[in-house]
Amino acid sequence: MVILLKNIKKYLNKVVTLRGWIFNIRSSGSIYFCQFRDGTGEIQAIVSKKDVDEETWQLTKKLTLESSCEITGKVYQEKRSPSGYEMLVKKLKVFQIALKYPIGKKSHGVDFLMDHRHLWIRSRRQQAILKIRDEVIFSIREFMRKNDFVLTDTPILTPTPCEQVELFKTDYFGEKAYLSQSGQLYLEALIYSLGRVYDFGPVFRAEKSKTRRHLIEFWMMDAEMAFVDHQENMRIQEELVSYLVEKVIKNRKKELEILKRNLEPLKNVKPPFVKITYDQAIDLLKKKGVKIKWGDDFGGDEETILSKSFEKPVFIEKYPAGIKAFYMKPDPENQKYVLNDDLLAPEGYGEIIGGSERIDDLNTLEEKIKEFKLPKEEYQWYLDLRRYGSVPHSGFGLGLERTVAWLCGLEHIRETIPFPRLINRLRP
Ligand code: 4AD
Ligand code: MG
Repeated sequence: MVILLKNIKKYLNKVVTLRGWIFNIRSSGSIYFCQFRDGTGEIQAIVSKKDVDEETWQLTKKLTLESSCEITGKVYQEKRSPSGYEMLVKKLKVFQIALKYPIGKKSHGVDFLMDHRHLWIRSRRQQAILKIRDEVIFSIREFMRKNDFVLTDTPILTPTPCEQVELFKTDYFGEKAYLSQSGQLYLEALIYSLGRVYDFGPVFRAEKSKTRRHLIEFWMMDAEMAFVDHQENMRIQEELVSYLVEKVIKNRKKELEILKRNLEPLKNVKPPFVKITYDQAIDLLKKKGVKIKWGDDFGGDEETILSKSFEKPVFIEKYPAGIKAFYMKPDPENQKYVLNDDLLAPEGYGEIIGGSERIDDLNTLEEKIKEFKLPKEEYQWYLDLRRYGSVPHSGFGLGLERTVAWLCGLEHIRETIPFPRLINRLRP
C-alpha cells in the first residue's frame, strides 16, 4: 500500500510503499542509509545487501542525491535516526536517477541559490518557510470568515493607480493600463454590497528599492469594512495579527524549530498592541539620534529602530496628510493629519500593515483628487461611492511576505515566496 509519511504512525511495523526523493545518502559498503522525503515527512531508508535481491542492490548503488523512487519495506520507530523512523527496504523502484545535484552540503552564496531557486525550494528550511506561509494564508482566511468578511476579488489590470508608488504599465489594446498595487479602491465599492470584504492576491510595485523588505510582486490581503472607524480598524488588525501568531505557534512547531525561531517574542503578540502617533515616533527617533524632521516619511532604517523599541507590535497613527495617500480621512481634531495607521512588527521587522479610515464625503474627496493632481474623470466611479449611500468606512492591507519573514525570523524577504521577483531578478 502506498502511504504518505505524515501518516506513518498508523503503519508502524507494517510493510508499506513510499514515493519520493532521496535527499541524503551514505553507505558503509554493504548498507545504504538514505534520507527520504515525500513532501509530507521524512524517513531514513536502509538498504542492506543481505536483505534485498541482487537487482535491488545494483539499483541502490546507482542512487544519487534527489533521485526519485518508490521504496517498499517495513517501517518502525527508531529514536536514533534523524526523523525518528526507519524503513528496512525490501524493494526499490526508480523513477529517475538524478544527475549530479548542484546544491550540496557546503554553503552556497545567495546568488547561486537564487539562480537555483527551482531546486533550492526542496531544502528542509525552504519547506518549513513555505509551510508557514501556507499556515498564515489559511489562518487569515479562517479569521476573516469567523469575523463576517466575504472573500471577493479585485482586478489586476486597472486604469488608475491606488497608491502613490511606482506602477507597472502595460498596453491594454492601445490603452494604457497598470498592474494593481492594491485592490482597496474596488473593495470600497464592494462594502456597499457585502458589508465587510477582503481580497487576497498578488500586487505589483515597480519600486526601485533594493532592501530586505521589498518585493516587486507580493501578496496582499486588503480588508475593507463599512461602519468601522479608525480605532475599530486598529482593533481588528490587532486581533487578526494575534490570531495568526497563535495559529503558527500552535500548528507549525516543527517548522519553527527547523528555522530556530525564538518563540519568546512571538508569545508577547497579544492585544493590546502599543500605539503611538507619528509625532511621538518622530520624537522617539530624534531622541535616538536619528536625523529626521516633521513631515519626513519613515524608511527602512527608521522602521527598524521604531520596531526594536517595543516588545510588541506597534501602531503608528496619524501621519501628516501630505505624505500619505489621497483617500485617507483627515483627522477632525487637526486636519494636518490623517486617520491612518502603520502596524510595525517587533524585532526590527517593520511595517506589515498599512490602513486608514477613508474619506466618505464627496467634496473632501474631490478636493483631494485635485490636490494630488489625479485624473478626475478616471475616479468618477470611485466618487459615485460618495454620492450613493456613503458611509464611514475603514480598511487595511497586510503584506503576506513581510508577515511571513517576521514569523519565521528571516533576514530577507526573498525566501518567503517560492519565486521572488526582485529589482534585479525576474528568473527563474
Ligand atoms: O502600506 P501599503 O502601501 O497600503 C496599501 O496599499 C493600502 N491600499 C492597503 C489598504 O488599505 N487596503 O501596503 C500594504 C502592505 C504594507 O504594510 C507591507 O506589508 C506590504 O503591503 N508591502 C510590501 N511587501 C513587500 N514588498 C513591497 N514592495 C511592499 N510594499 C508594501
Ligand atoms: Mg504603507
